[in-house]
Amino acid sequence: MRQRFAFFVFILLFSVCFFLMMYYGEKTFFVKKTAKSEAKKQAYHFVLIPEETDNEYWRIIEKGAREAAEKYNVYLEYLGPKRANMGEHVRILDKEIAGKVDGIMTQGISEDHFTPLINKAMDRGISVVTVDADAPYSRREVYVGTDNYAAGFLAGQALLEDTEGKQVVGIVTGRFDASHQRLRVQGFRDAVEKEKRIEIAGIKESGISKTGAVQATYDLLKEHPDITAFYGTSALDGLGIARVISTMRPNSDPYIITFDTLPENMDLLRDGKIDAIVVQHPYEMGYRAVEMLVELKKGNHPERLQYTESKIIRQKDLDQFLKDNKGLYGDEDDPS
Ligand code: BGC
Repeated sequence: MRQRFAFFVFILLFSVCFFLMMYYGEKTFFVKKTAKSEAKKQAYHFVLIPEETDNEYWRIIEKGAREAAEKYNVYLEYLGPKRANMGEHVRILDKEIAGKVDGIMTQGISEDHFTPLINKAMDRGISVVTVDADAPYSRREVYVGTDNYAAGFLAGQALLEDTEGKQVVGIVTGRFDASHQRLRVQGFRDAVEKEKRIEIAGIKESGISKTGAVQATYDLLKEHPDITAFYGTSALDGLGIARVISTMRPNSDPYIITFDTLPENMDLLRDGKIDAIVVQHPYEMGYRAVEMLVELKKGNHPERLQYTESKIIRQKDLDQFLKDNKGLYGDEDDPS
């Protein structure tokens, strides 16, 4: 009888222990789905590396890329520096190459830093598409983005068309070390070069942030109080320029031309605080870049240089532009 009881207690304890082991064991050893296992279910694993993650312009590129990724069953990561930073950007690119993703979308901000890495990715069988800023001397397979020199040239032509008499110009540029920003400045310079009435007084860097653009504009005005026109070469530069004018020089009305149709820029254009905007198509860049990577992975050979449209809009064009570009921020199903 005693033996039976002991046996019963033993079985009971054993069952309890077994149950507890199974229950907590699963909790302890169950491995959460990793990016890799998640990626396995999808056809390809691509990464989009923005100049800075929380920049509104890059969020639009991301949106385009995400919508294309969904359509083509791609696992897409969006990884980049929090604030624009060459060292970090390059480090992330290198890490993703080591991670053996199927495809990378990145800018080619500087030939020296990006070309060797892009070539390294290609050597390892990773397809590379440059977006927004090209690295034309690398072995990248496709560039999707603005023709940055041509866009800068358009900006210079717009200044010539929209102004009369002598103009003293201050340029606020995103980064001195970024090739596409330099092309935008060069295009502008070349467009106005032969016009004696245009003088470029100075150029300062904003570091692609609004506060940086405020500081750059302030410094330009301090050094050249006779400035009559401003040219901003990256998405948030116009916001900084307009802010300084409305606080420091509320009674002046300099000519302001800047890049990108972000909602705040469009508001300033509507209010007459910015005179013209150089249009880029970030949503389309992101969408098409993913499409191109898919094409490359299938063994196809898409056109290497895929320029998205750039043009100038002014206050009078605003309503028509908004009507014609309903899908500009991915509000519609198709970016085309
Ligand atoms: C440029 C991007 C840049 C962004 C910064 C855009 O005009 O094309 O390269 O990252 O401005 O806000």
